[in-house]
Amino acid sequence: MELEHDATATAYEVCVGEGLIDDAGSLIAAACPAHRYSIITDTQVAGLYGERLLDALSGEGLNGMVLKFPAGEWNKNRENWSDLIDGMLRAGFGRDSAVVALGGGVVGDLGGFVAATFMRGVPLVQIPTTLLAMLDSSVGGKTGVDTAAGKNLVGAFHQPRLVLADPAVLKTLPGPQFTSGLAEALKHGLILDAAYFESIAAGLEDLFARQPDRLTDLIARSVEIKAAVVSRDERESGYRKVLNFGHTVAHAQEAISGYAWLHGEAVAAGMALEAAIGEAAGVTEEGVSRRIQEVLEAARLPVELDDEVDATRFFEALEKDKKRAGGRVRYTLIGEIGRVAASDEGDWTHEVPEELVRSVLFE
Ligand SMILES: NC(=O)c1ccc[n+]([C@@H]2O[C@H](COP(=O)([O-])OP(=O)(O)OC[C@H]3O[C@@H](n4cnc5c(N)ncnc54)[C@H](O)[C@@H]3O)[C@@H](O)[C@H]2O)c1
Ligand SMILES: [Zn+2]
Repeated sequence: MELEHDATATAYEVCVGEGLIDDAGSLIAAACPAHRYSIITDTQVAGLYGERLLDALSGEGLNGMVLKFPAGEWNKNRENWSDLIDGMLRAGFGRDSAVVALGGGVVGDLGGFVAATFMRGVPLVQIPTTLLAMLDSSVGGKTGVDTAAGKNLVGAFHQPRLVLADPAVLKTLPGPQFTSGLAEALKHGLILDAAYFESIAAGLEDLFARQPDRLTDLIARSVEIKAAVVSRDERESGYRKVLNFGHTVAHAQEAISGYAWLHGEAVAAGMALEAAIGEAAGVTEEGVSRRIQEVLEAARLPVELDDEVDATRFFEALEKDKKRAGGRVRYTLIGEIGRVAASDEGDWTHEVPEELVRSVLFE
């Protein structure tokens, strides 16, 4: 599938299919020729797929070297960014090299940021290995690291030359990581494609069995939806906010849990609750939040906030988020399943009175 990004006239290929990781050599040679490839990955993924990717590259006569950092969100930081850059410099990588980010969203963001900054930027290939990374984070060009003040506060836009998603590697992904990715796929359906949402709901059994064909369809459709949104708004001025359905509440839940909740789990609860908020605000059709809850529960995802989240902590967390964003607390709401609701001002987000949110979430 070819993705067009008209804003900066970049276009790149997203390939989805079983066994693609073993074809990576020829695909990379064609889409992203380079003198040398720095394969950035985490310790976990290196052990599972590092050798296989190296073999795939060397089979095509490509010169690759694996650089790894410890797995985990807390390692998506500036220390590892500088260690990776130093590692590449020590190994003699030059301007004619490229970065291949092999792993989940953490690797994609950190490896992507290395690619964006190494010698003012070298080409990037994304080989996502979590469901979330395949259908969400590897598309869109956002890269970066976390800081003590918050997540993703340092970064750059850097579009990949090629994205290779091989659903067969999802067989080794732990269950909670898998369902966390499903939450974002369901979100794509909820905001823009009701039939897609219902087809995921109807096919959960095959998805949980990690059937590569079903996963290929899922990833391809989600990538299509995300790419369509992003290409309309590559630098996040307005329309891209439709992707934030569920995320205002999710960010508060994630922060309060000290990021013990996985992102997709928090998004699931956030979507159920923001649908309820939307219904109370008269924006979302009655009954939508019930249907969302049903499907999320069938998908083994949470639909409520943690018990430790009370109103005080919740609104404090929103306040912090708001300060960082430099604006107001806003919600992306849906009108019904498959359609994002524009606000009266023609914006894609809504301001909702705090009292209303309080009554829906805490009373
Ligand atoms: N750039 C974007 O647009 C964007 C969008 C959404 C999320 N993100 C970022 O993505 C990150 C979360 O990504 P994630 O959920 O993929 O987490 P992750 O990268 O931490 O991966 C989760 C865990 O699964 C392991 N793993 C990865 N692939 C595996 C496989 N095939 N088999 C077994 N284990 C595997 C990893 O080593 C890690 O321990 C966050 O930092 C978030 O900010 C970025
Ligand atoms: Zn998300």
